Amino acid sequence: MPRQRLIAANWKMYKNPDQTREFFQAFLPLVADHTRDEIVVCPPYTDLHAAVEATTGSNVAIGAQDMYWKEEGAFTGEISPGMLLAAECTHVIIGHSERRQYFGETDDTVNLKLKAALEAGLTPIVCVGEVLEEREAGLTEDVLRRQCLRAFHAISAKKASRLVIAYEPVWAIGTGKTATPQLAAEAHSLIRTEAAKAFGDRLAESMRILYGGSVKPENAKSLMAEEEIDGALVGGASLDAQSFAAIVKY
Ligand code: PGA
Repeated sequence: MPRQRLIAANWKMYKNPDQTREFFQAFLPLVADHTRDEIVVCPPYTDLHAAVEATTGSNVAIGAQDMYWKEEGAFTGEISPGMLLAAECTHVIIGHSERRQYFGETDDTVNLKLKAALEAGLTPIVCVGEVLEEREAGLTEDVLRRQCLRAFHAISAKKASRLVIAYEPVWAIGTGKTATPQLAAEAHSLIRTEAAKAFGDRLAESMRILYGGSVKPENAKSLMAEEEIDGALVGGASLDAQSFAAIVKY
């Protein structure tokens, strides 16, 4: 069965609830009849309510950008899987490189979060990718293997059925530099091989691997032409309704 592509927006720390409502007012009509791909928008926590309200009954799902792995407790500033479900989120980004770079996310916390998200019934989008120094030192494959191995640790194939991976070379995020479709496809194959080792061929074959890193309306089509690329995780270009709709419709 061909994999349905998933186009996801990562708004990062942009937009308030009013701006969220404005975005969806403009965006929803542009994609109203779009059934080819799954569409997800991940706004900041404080916009989740407005986003869910605006998209109820539409073809757009809402996700969060992070979560903690515990259900509740004295963890100031954190949000649990159950809270995301109660807010009617269906997806959650885990292990984004900015979380790894600035907020102490490690391969081990990614694994804990991934387990908790799957357990809760959320669809996790786990980000992996090398930084520039690693690519230049020829370490890309080692880094991706390590990130996958540790993220997938002690998770059964049965539990992992909803898992989505996003390959985001860190040197391509917000820089205007995009990995060539061929280079991305190579990384995606390696990730799929790691998934096959962890979960078996069948799950690996059906698992979606998104590309992220300066995806724009101008380059979306050539990236999506690669059979190995099952969608996109879009930062900067997802903040504008027209530009995100153009990517969705590549
Ligand atoms: P970008 O961000 O599209 O602005 O490069 C992608 C991401 O960080 O998910």
